[in-house]
Amino acid sequence: MINTCKAALTDRGRTRHNRRRQRRLYTDKTMTREPILKEPFELKDEDRDLRPRHMQEMVGQREVYARLEIAVDAAGKRDEPLGHILFDGPPGLGKTTFATCIPRDLGVSFQVASGATLAAPKDLIPYLTNVDERSVLFIDEIHRMPKGVEEFLYPAMEDFRIDLTLGEGVNARTINMQLKPFTLIGATTRSGLLSAPLRDRFQMREHLDFYTLEELSEIVRRNAVKLRVEIESEAAREISGRSRGTPRVANNRLRWVRDYAQSKADGRITLRVARDALAMQGIDPLGLDRQDRKDLETLARVFGGGPAGVEAIAHTMNLATDTLIDEVEPYVLRSELVVRTPRGRTMTPAAFEHLGLSESASATKEGQQKLFE
Ligand SMILES: Nc1ncnc2c1ncn2[C@@H]1O[C@H](COP(=O)(O)OP(=O)(O)OP(=O)(O)O)[C@@H](O)[C@H]1O
Ligand SMILES: [Mg+2]
Repeated sequence: MINTCKAALTDRGRTRHNRRRQRRLYTDKTMTREPILKEPFELKDEDRDLRPRHMQEMVGQREVYARLEIAVDAAGKRDEPLGHILFDGPPGLGKTTFATCIPRDLGVSFQVASGATLAAPKDLIPYLTNVDERSVLFIDEIHRMPKGVEEFLYPAMEDFRIDLTLGEGVNARTINMQLKPFTLIGATTRSGLLSAPLRDRFQMREHLDFYTLEELSEIVRRNAVKLRVEIESEAAREISGRSRGTPRVANNRLRWVRDYAQSKADGRITLRVARDALAMQGIDPLGLDRQDRKDLETLARVFGGGPAGVEAIAHTMNLATDTLIDEVEPYVLRSELVVRTPRGRTMTPAAFEHLGLSESASATKEGQQKLFE
């Protein structure tokens, strides 16, 4: 239809049509400013499918939920903005999920920014001037904001005001700009990196912890329904047991098991299918993957169970030290399979047991020591 209309335009008509179109584009650009980020924002598609949309749909973190529910309810009754909230905790536990559910529960609009992209105060200005009354500004990875941006945020959080400096040198002028009252929600995996003044400006600080087996099983069962796949409850439990107490890991494992079930079985996730699928990915009953086990095996075989320096272990594994520290160690340390001592990393009896080795494997170490005696 559109094509026919265009074809019907005469040359003169076409020029007029183009001019009108250009004018419209120009006015569109200059007159109305698009909200910076509208919902749905930068979440990945599959993420959006499984991410709860309201706090009520979230599983676990009951104490955090109870406190937030009271705060949201009270703010609604007072018709005032909710106080600023900071979420911290390890990756994949629901910080972003809470931050996106809260504005929906409040029925207000929200914008999302990432600390990593806020390099200077000017990057933050459009977000702050765009806030609606009582709306939510969510800054993910807030610890990655430079000090200058943090300081710029202080008056915005405390008095809903920003101080702008115009011009330079003797001509410089400062203007104070009033903002609409809003709620700042920050999320971080490294709250220790935030400056104390920024941390103190959050009325609520909520720490998210790992999920229990029951909670994770519930998440897996609910998400299987969302993915339209049938799952046995033992299979849901099996997947959860191997998911390191983390919903994001559980979701990823579930997606893989679903693929496996659809490709290698009849599409139903039975206990057998779940076990086979996870074994194929090298994920063992404790949730360790190949790399985690290689870390333990290296420590046992080459270093007699430790103590050994992290760099020595990383070099032997042919891995960057940072990768070992950031990706492998958090879980083996948390699972009490390895301990960090001043002399280096040491395996615990549980780790020997898990690898099916007796502690006499450390005989190698004794043997090595004897060589030098
Ligand atoms: N309480 C919960 N109930 C159900 N699903 C959850 C819950 N918490 C997290 N999830 C699921 O886990 C996924 C990861 O959560 P989220 O993105 O909120 O983690 P995060 O703490 O922001 O992680 P990161 O620090 O890496 O940004 C979500 O997509 C969601 O599907
Ligand atoms: Mg997040």
